[in-house]
Amino acid sequence: MKALILSGGHGTRLRPITHSQQKQLIPIANKPVLFYAIEDVIEAGAREIGIIVGPNKDQIIDTVGSREWDAGIEFIFQGEPAGLAHTILIAEDFLGEEEFIMYLGDNVIKGGITRHSHSFRDLDPDSLVLLTQVDDPQRFGVADLDEKGRVKRLVEKPRVPPSNYALVGIYFFKPAIIEACKSINPSWRNELEITDAIQWLIDNGHRVEASVVDGWWKDTGKAEDILEANRLVLDEMRPKNDGALRGSRIFGRAVIGKGSSIENSEIKGPCILGEDCIIRDSYIGPYTSINDGCNIEGTEIEDSVIMEGCTISNAGRIVESLIGKNVVIGENGRRPAGHRFIAGDNSEILL
Ligand code: DAU
Repeated sequence: MKALILSGGHGTRLRPITHSQQKQLIPIANKPVLFYAIEDVIEAGAREIGIIVGPNKDQIIDTVGSREWDAGIEFIFQGEPAGLAHTILIAEDFLGEEEFIMYLGDNVIKGGITRHSHSFRDLDPDSLVLLTQVDDPQRFGVADLDEKGRVKRLVEKPRVPPSNYALVGIYFFKPAIIEACKSINPSWRNELEITDAIQWLIDNGHRVEASVVDGWWKDTGKAEDILEANRLVLDEMRPKNDGALRGSRIFGRAVIGKGSSIENSEIKGPCILGEDCIIRDSYIGPYTSINDGCNIEGTEIEDSVIMEGCTISNAGRIVESLIGKNVVIGENGRRPAGHRFIAGDNSEILL
């Protein structure tokens, strides 16, 4: 089986982080979101992976290329994001006549997708979609099911949802989906919608089955979703300490990377510190991920994601924050006294 992973798009709901960084590269527990998708499809048996890339393609290609994978990876350039079904059309040569998994590169799911890939093999439908019950179905594609649990109808972000079963961004397809994608028209948001293509399969006598997800699943489309995915992943991490501790204590499960030094500080897991970090006179609390090369001094941080190369000193207490790469947060030692900001477009600062 092949896999198509979608890593294009603009990520507008995650600005300003996505002004400079493709959203699928935002780290969850210090690992890019996209890597969870690649690992899941490889675990489910995919040995040829096509990754859809958009205008920021070089970032994706460099980051994916920085690791060895147990599968061949090909990058397929989409340009502007014209819809999930559009990505299947531009990947037609890559997909050929094979079955494939389509995985949205900003989705994270507990426990991988192997169970669902077995259901696809055993039930042998034209498509198998993953569903999960959510409180806010308006944000997603929503499935209307018949009494046997088969998909009757799919609607994209409905104002009045027919159920609370949201479509998870992971789909299994037989090649019939290519004809479906060729047969549909762009939606009101001018995208070729995958929900319309799957609806076309149903309307044209193809069988679409559903598999309900039993653990957690997150679409990391917004900052709160990233923080929540970070909590969920950290909750399952095994502790490991490759760093050096001086006058410091660790409570609970913490992962500390090579070359990191923790001085006169308290670390309370679940949390992860990357490589080559310096933590001094600080408290790092539960559900915090601090990426490689950060310097934290005289600060308390809890329930946050801090990306590579940040310097944070005497910043009081930081909670529920998403902080991009190389950010500097420190004291204003100059006059006039007061908070001084150099904040990019769409930054959010709560004091
Ligand atoms: O996450 C689940 C939801 O994903 C489903 O419930 C919806 O039915 C499905 O349409 C999709 O909705 P989103 O609005 O979340 O899709 P989004 O535009 O965020 O795109 C999902 C991923 O695919 C994201 O990583 C960007 C990438 N993408 C998107 C488009 C539209 C592409 O690579 N190319 C595209 O043309």
